[in-house]
Amino acid sequence: MTEISKRGDRSPVPAEWAYAPAPESRDIVQLQERYGVYVGGKWLEPAETYETVSPATEEALAQVGQAGEADVLHAVDAARDAFENGWSSLPGSERAKYLFRIARILQERSREFAVLESLNGGKPIKESRDVDLPLAAAHFFYYAGWADKLEYAFPNRKPRPVGVAGQIIPWNFPLLMLAWKVAPALAAGNTVVLKPAETTPLTALLFCDVIRQAELPPGVVNIITGDGRTGAALVDAAVDKIAFTGSTEVGKAIQRRLAGTGKKLTLELGGKAANIIFDDAALDQAVEGIVNGIYFNQGHVCCAGSRLFVQESIAEPVVEKLKRRMATLRVGDPLDKNTDVGAINSRAQLDKIEELVASGRDEGAEVYQPTCRLPERGYWFVPTVFTNVAQSYRIAQEEIFGPVLSVLTFRTPEEAVEKANNTPYGLSAGVWTEKGSRILWMAERLRAGVVWANTYNRFDPASPFGGYKESGFGREGGLHGLEPYLAFDGAETFGG
Ligand code: NAI
Ligand code: MG
Repeated sequence: MTEISKRGDRSPVPAEWAYAPAPESRDIVQLQERYGVYVGGKWLEPAETYETVSPATEEALAQVGQAGEADVLHAVDAARDAFENGWSSLPGSERAKYLFRIARILQERSREFAVLESLNGGKPIKESRDVDLPLAAAHFFYYAGWADKLEYAFPNRKPRPVGVAGQIIPWNFPLLMLAWKVAPALAAGNTVVLKPAETTPLTALLFCDVIRQAELPPGVVNIITGDGRTGAALVDAAVDKIAFTGSTEVGKAIQRRLAGTGKKLTLELGGKAANIIFDDAALDQAVEGIVNGIYFNQGHVCCAGSRLFVQESIAEPVVEKLKRRMATLRVGDPLDKNTDVGAINSRAQLDKIEELVASGRDEGAEVYQPTCRLPERGYWFVPTVFTNVAQSYRIAQEEIFGPVLSVLTFRTPEEAVEKANNTPYGLSAGVWTEKGSRILWMAERLRAGVVWANTYNRFDPASPFGGYKESGFGREGGLHGLEPYLAFDGAETFGG
């Protein structure tokens, strides 16, 4: 800190930046004690239930269903029935009306959803309020617009719906991943059985009330909660397509399971993205981009910029600026409007982060963590940066999925590309430079589904998203995102 004042920086970091607490009220959320599974437009009592908690306090929020095989088969039957008896033959313009309604209701109820998302998942309210909810509504609006234009989107290919889609989603963006999956499926004329992640079922269960309000015909969307066993039963059920977002390990298992069955599959899996800073980049903006890239949503982001590549000549000032910026991050109560970094989603995820961070120390990397006071209960991890990282270290190779950044350096653009691509993943990358030609040169060579230039973690429903290599296949978002939910005459391909 003394160094900073010596340099006479225009924005020195005050030692104590006192904020008054600014908690968002929980009152808008009406939790039930116990939730069933939502099948055929009705709430059914599942055989078993489990407790879902708030990761920030470990407080129990509700009992939710652990759907068994019978529940899964029942949900798939309901979806099949709805597909065959009305939904798939409805004109696109009629399907669009439902999607527009859902989008508007999500906007109307956005505060309620944002509070519930932060309560059940631990993410800061300013992110659920300003990112998750607006984007979820935007996806429904966007795909509502395509529902009656499929013939124009795919001219001369006679698009038709695939049938029943089984959708399995993770816990890092619970409602947003639901929107990414449900909106294109319905726009294309399919029906859906969706399974939220076991730690974050509550916004998906609240979404059932949106479906009711929108008067969506029964069985078009069915929501079954439960853990990996429920997901595995859904993969094996009589669905026509599986869409999965989650770990590479489970993605591989699903792909093996489906090989030869003729079911379509899309996988959106892990990542270890390179965020690459050249010496001509606007450094203050780049530092904001680094922070957003790795500390947004506690680093629980498949496209997180978890490997920072800095050009050697600017490594020192960049790391120094970054550390100063990290000291201003406010870690704590997800429902406080000033919070930048919330709770780690689960005990299991915290264990994984702690284990990988310990491996980084053991392998010889240098660790920096700003001082901050963490709440006594709940699952927390201080934003962390590792320097002195070798390419071979686990923290440079494996997905940590937490607020932990590994800094590496490079000298030439060629070296940056080679190091950036040296990973089994290929989901996203970031490039920071003033030179447009260099951005294009890099984007051509980086093996990543998304390459952001002078920005990071920017999303738009019109823009396709998805990976290379072990990050999966298939695209979500945009026109590309409709394709996996459509069948075309004479073109049945596994893997969509
Ligand atoms: P996971 O892949 O086990 O869970 C994701 C979803 O798949 C959940 O809904 C889960 O219930 C379901 N699932 C689990 N086993 C299944 C199976 N055999 N068949 C069908 N569905 C199954 O991920 P997990 O254990 O929550 O996290 C482990 C790691 O995976 C994280 O630390 C992170 O590195 C990565 N991950 C990546 C995500 C991404 O967005 N790409 C999202 C979540 C986790
Ligand atoms: Mg798992």
